[in-house]
Amino acid sequence: MTWNVKILISEQQIRDRIQELGAQISGDYQGTEPILVSILRGSFLFLADLSRTLTVPHEVDFMAVSSYGNAQESTGVVRLLQDLSSDVSRRHVLVVEDIVDTGLTWEYIRANLMTRRPASLKIVTLLNKEERRRVDVPVDYAGFVIEDAFVVGYGLDYQQKLRNLPYIGVLQE
Ligand code: PRP
Repeated sequence: MTWNVKILISEQQIRDRIQELGAQISGDYQGTEPILVSILRGSFLFLADLSRTLTVPHEVDFMAVSSYGNAQESTGVVRLLQDLSSDVSRRHVLVVEDIVDTGLTWEYIRANLMTRRPASLKIVTLLNKEERRRVDVPVDYAGFVIEDAFVVGYGLDYQQKLRNLPYIGVLQE
């Protein structure tokens, strides 16, 4: 199977923007030891690259949720598939996402993590599809604001494939 993918954000643009985000986050978290919570599966590459730009000591942990299944539209029902290993109470928690789209996933994760009483809770997302938002959730750090298109690559999938593309692309008909 071959796909026709048009590059939207190049490998170099991603690398440069992550450097900037890393510097900003390192500054904001200076003097703390945050825990980065990567939301599987889409954020695995972003976590790996962002983590290596941070100059503050930090931990990483993982959480898996599902809102889409194999559908292209959010169903609105978010399920927790895999919980964190760490106790995040009194910790500075930074959630790492590949994309915030409708905001439903972040709304769910935010409410879920807040019950554990973290010292702080923020999100960094590589992509922000602002115009698609269905709930009003705060987004603290975003790499790129993008228009509504079906994006793949750099962690984002089409039917579980294409996550390995080193760039963000738009899947063509
Ligand atoms: C994607 C993405 C976010 C969520 C954002 O995950 O990683 O978690 O959708 O969409 P929303 O703002 O509309 O809720 P997906 O459910 O596709 O799973 P995946 O990360 O395993 O690809």
